[in-house]
Amino acid sequence: MSKHFTYEKIKTAIFENAETASKKVAKEIATFINEKAAENKHCVLGLATGSTPKTVYSELVRLHKEEGLSFKHVITFNLDEYYPIHPNAVQSYFRFMNEQLFDHIDILPENCNIPNGHVEIENIAAHCKAYENKIDAYGGIDLQILGIGSNGHIGFNEPGSLMNSSTRLMMLDHSTRVGAISDFSGNLSYVPKKAITLGVSKILEAKRIILLAWGEIKADIVADAVEGIVTEEIPASYLQTHANTVFVLDEAAAKKLTRIKTPWLLDTIIWDEQTTKKAVTHLAITLNKPILQLTNKDYNDNGMSDLLAQSGQAYDINIRIFSHLQHTITGWPGGKPNADDHNRPERALPQKKRVIIFSPHPDDDIISMGGTFQRLVDQGHDVHIAYQTSGNIAVADDEAFRFIEFVSDLNDKFDFDKTGSSNLYNKAKEFLEHKKTGEIDIPEVRFVKGLIRKGEAKATGRFVGVPPQNMHFLNLPFYETGMVEKNPIGENDVNIIGALIEQIKPHQVFAAGDLADPHGTHKVCLDGIFAAFKKLHNETFIKDCWLWLYSGAWAEWDIHQIEMAVPMSPDQILKKRFGIFKHQSQKDGVVFQGNDSREFWQRAEDRNKQTADIYNQLGLAQYAAMEAFVRWKG
Ligand code: F6R
Repeated sequence: MSKHFTYEKIKTAIFENAETASKKVAKEIATFINEKAAENKHCVLGLATGSTPKTVYSELVRLHKEEGLSFKHVITFNLDEYYPIHPNAVQSYFRFMNEQLFDHIDILPENCNIPNGHVEIENIAAHCKAYENKIDAYGGIDLQILGIGSNGHIGFNEPGSLMNSSTRLMMLDHSTRVGAISDFSGNLSYVPKKAITLGVSKILEAKRIILLAWGEIKADIVADAVEGIVTEEIPASYLQTHANTVFVLDEAAAKKLTRIKTPWLLDTIIWDEQTTKKAVTHLAITLNKPILQLTNKDYNDNGMSDLLAQSGQAYDINIRIFSHLQHTITGWPGGKPNADDHNRPERALPQKKRVIIFSPHPDDDIISMGGTFQRLVDQGHDVHIAYQTSGNIAVADDEAFRFIEFVSDLNDKFDFDKTGSSNLYNKAKEFLEHKKTGEIDIPEVRFVKGLIRKGEAKATGRFVGVPPQNMHFLNLPFYETGMVEKNPIGENDVNIIGALIEQIKPHQVFAAGDLADPHGTHKVCLDGIFAAFKKLHNETFIKDCWLWLYSGAWAEWDIHQIEMAVPMSPDQILKKRFGIFKHQSQKDGVVFQGNDSREFWQRAEDRNKQTADIYNQLGLAQYAAMEAFVRWKG
C-alpha cells in the first residue's frame, strides 16, 4: 500500500465529481454482469436507494439502452424499506427502484427483491428471515452498493447496530427521519418511524462492497468511517473489517480524509502557494497561535519541514501568508475607486460596475451575502438581482391559503370583481383540505406559493435599495416540477440565464457556489451559470467579467480558499438580519428545515461571525462578521 494511504483503513477512490464516479461504478457493475452472463451464470446485486445511487442507476439505464447491457440474468436485493409503507406510496423504496431503474431495463420483475413495508407486524421476523434465506439460496450478494447516512448508517443500520445484527425492523434515528422530511411534504410526523433493513452481518457477507458518497455534507462521516476506530456508533466503520470494500467518493466527500486535508502529514508533497496557505493556516488554527507567531519548531513538529527546506525560515513564510490573508479583506467588494488595486481582490475600474447577483432561491442573496449586497448598492454600483427559481415548494400550505383568503376577503370588502378570486379560493380550499402527503400542488397553489416568495424578495430589494427594474425573476423551468426532485438543467434554463447576462453585460457576477449538497438546487443553478458563461465565452464583455462564488447557508469556504472577505460592523449585521426577516414564509419553522434547527438569519450570523473569528485567531483584525467569496476562473 502506498504511503499516501496510511491513515485509511478502507480503500478509497476519489473522483472529480459524482457523475464521473458514477460512470466508473456503473462500468464495473456492467462488466461484472457481462462476465457472469458469458459464463451463463446469474449475478446478485445488493442495491441501495436514497439520492446517492441515482446517478449510477441512470448510467446503468443508459448502458442498457445505448450499449445493449442486459439485466436478464441479474437478481437484485434491496437494502431496506420504510415500515409501514404501501408499495404504491410515492415515498416507498419499491416505487423508487421502479422509477429509477427497474422500469427502464430488461430485468425480470420476479428477480427484484425489496423488503415488504406492508407486511403484518407479527410476520416481520419471518419475512426478514425468508429475505436472508433467499439471498443465501442465490449464493449470497456478489456486489453490494451502499450509501452512507450522515450519522454513519449503512442500510438502515442506525448507530448502535451490532456487527452481527441480522435483517430486522429498525427504529429510525431522529436525524435520519429529519433527512427524509422533504420526501414527506416537509412534515416530520409523516416520516415513518421504522424501516426493515438488511442486517450488518448480511451486508458484510457480500463478496464486494462499493459505498458511494457525494458532497461535503458526507465528508466528516466518511473520514470517521475510513480513518477512525471500528465502532457501533458508526456502523459504516464495520466495513474496515471487510476485505473487498471500496469507498467511491467525489472530491467534496473526500475533503476530510487526511490525505486530502493535510497531505503533508503523510508524504512529500509539492509546496505550491495554495498548499502552503492551507498548511500554514491549518497549523495556526491547530496550535491556536496567530500566524506571525509560528516558529520553525512548529513547522518541523507538524510535518512541514520540507516547506522550510524549500522556502526558508518560518518567519518569512508567515509574513507571506499573513499578507495574502490581509489582502483578501476589503470593504469595497466592487473595487475601491482611485486606489492601487494590485493587492486588492477586485479591480478599481470601472468605478461603477454592473453587477448581477444570482440567487438560486428568492432569499439566498440576502442570507448568504446580504452585507456585501448592501455595500455594492451603497457604493453606487448598478446591482441587478436574478432569482433563478420560484422557490415555491418551500412555502407551507396554510401560508398559501392565508394569502388566497386575504385576496378573497379584500375583494369582498371593496366590492371588486370577485368571480376569479372566489373560484380560486374554492378550488384551493377543496384541494388543500384533501391534499395527501407528498401530493403535488395544483398549478394555482404553486403559483400563489411562488408569488408569496416573489413578494418577499421584492420587499428585501426595496429594503436594500435595488430599483424594481433591476430585480429579475427567472423562474427557471427545471425547478417547476412541484416536487423536491427537480428536472436536470436544460438548454432552456441555460438560455434564460445567458440572455440576462448578455443583456446586462456585467463586470461582476456573484453566484451560489454551494457544493455541500451536490443534488441540490444550488449546484444545478451554478451549473446553469457555468454553462451560460461557456456559451458566451467569445464575447468581449465576458472576458472582463469576474465570477465570485458565495457559499450558501450551510457551509463556509475553507479559510485558505477565500479570496475576498467582506467585513461587517454590528450595525450592518443587524441590517442584514432585518433583510432576511422580509422572507416571512421562511421563518418560524420552515418546510425544509434540514438537520439544523436554527433559523436562516441565525445560521447566517453564526457563520459570518465564525469567519471573522478565524481571521482574528490567525492574527488579523477583529471584525464582528465577514462574508467570504472565492473567484471562479473557469
Ligand atoms: C438507502 C439506505 C441508506 C442511504 C443513506 C444515504 O437504501 O439504505 O443507508 O444509503 O441514508 O442516503 P442519501 O443517498 O440520500 O444521502
